[in-house]
Amino acid sequence: MNKLKILVTGGAGFIGSNFLNLFVPSSPDHYFINLDKLTYAANLLNLEQVSSLSNYTFLQADLADYQSVEHIFSKYEPDLVIHFAAESHVDRSILGPADFIYSNIIGTFNLLEGCRKHWMTEENTNQKLFLHVSTDEVYGSLGEEGLFTEETAYDPSSPYSASKAASDHLVRAYHRTYGLPAIITNCSNNYGPYQFPEKLIPLMILNALAEKPLPVYGKGENIRDWLYVEDHCCAIWTVIGKGKPGETYNIGGNSELKNLNLVHLLCENLAEENGKNPDHYRKLIEFVPDRPGHDLRYAIDNSKIKRELGWQPQEDFSKGLRKTIRWYLDNPDWVEIVQSGAYKKWIDENYSKRGAVK
Ligand code: NAD
Ligand code: TYD
Repeated sequence: MNKLKILVTGGAGFIGSNFLNLFVPSSPDHYFINLDKLTYAANLLNLEQVSSLSNYTFLQADLADYQSVEHIFSKYEPDLVIHFAAESHVDRSILGPADFIYSNIIGTFNLLEGCRKHWMTEENTNQKLFLHVSTDEVYGSLGEEGLFTEETAYDPSSPYSASKAASDHLVRAYHRTYGLPAIITNCSNNYGPYQFPEKLIPLMILNALAEKPLPVYGKGENIRDWLYVEDHCCAIWTVIGKGKPGETYNIGGNSELKNLNLVHLLCENLAEENGKNPDHYRKLIEFVPDRPGHDLRYAIDNSKIKRELGWQPQEDFSKGLRKTIRWYLDNPDWVEIVQSGAYKKWIDENYSKRGAVK
């Protein structure tokens, strides 16, 4: 890749900050502009390693405000947009969908408009690319069998997945209608360092360490296909370098697990770390009322990205999980900051109505 100005949206969130930590230091020829609203899910502490590097700058802005987007395009003239920014938690979308519509749909629309206005007037758009980071949840739920392919019909269940589906449709429409060079990636569930502890894996790790209940929705039979976050980041980097505009690539780790089995595995790993019996943690498991519209199973067919771009996951799930547990154990200051204030309010809102002990 030539020297590029790369606008990364949502770079202070979980996946975005892992991406910047991996690629800003190793790509001194590229200039990275991190645009983030700094919602509850963001944390600039995640970016301490890169914040003083000369090829990195941070801008606080809300994508739902077109004037800010326009200003950033005029000032920085990015060649490449990697669009991570979104409201990302299904349970929050159930309790309050409005932010998902503003950030995920209007935010994506504004970004696409910025690209259309600044890129499509030039004769040569070859050097430009809009990479839209999306989710496999747009495909809805699988039964016991089958995998999501790039041809699976969209069938989202939650306000979160519906808002991501809408944003995917807009990106595809801008490619077909205006010729905007765009690629969509649909990835399965990520885990790893810096994940906000509203999501299953960090929530269970931190609750267990604090001897709090481990709230399993329904019977814990839902299945997710887990991918270590750095594998996702490397997949995105591969797609930027080798992907074809107009294409969609599914990204997944071939690591399907029932939620309850995953929670048991976490209990075993934590017990090993802390020299305890796994039952010490297992007895904290509490079955709580299910999530409405809870998708049963997600699983990705990642053969297209493997075959066409040569990417494949590097991290084995049990090793990745141990690394993740270690990271939360090694970063108590990060945990303490993240768990203060608004986090407590969320835990109260989401779990007290389920009858779970806070
Ligand atoms: P996250 O919630 O941890 O971070 C999202 C970031 O976006 C935050 O820093 C937040 O401040 C920022 N943001 C939100 N609204 C914004 C707005 N209006 N303007 C500017 N910034 C805004 O999310 P994540 O887990 O890092 O996910 C990143 C992307 O990857 C999302 O688009 C998500 O849909 C997608 N994705 C996530 C997963 C997963 O398992 N986490 C899997 C597949 C795809
Ligand atoms: P989550 O991490 O919210 O990701 P997503 O809903 O996007 O897949 O949840 C992963 C799975 O874990 C999902 O099936 C819901 C379940 N879950 C629980 O059982 N308990 C919890 O407290 C949370 C947050 C999730």
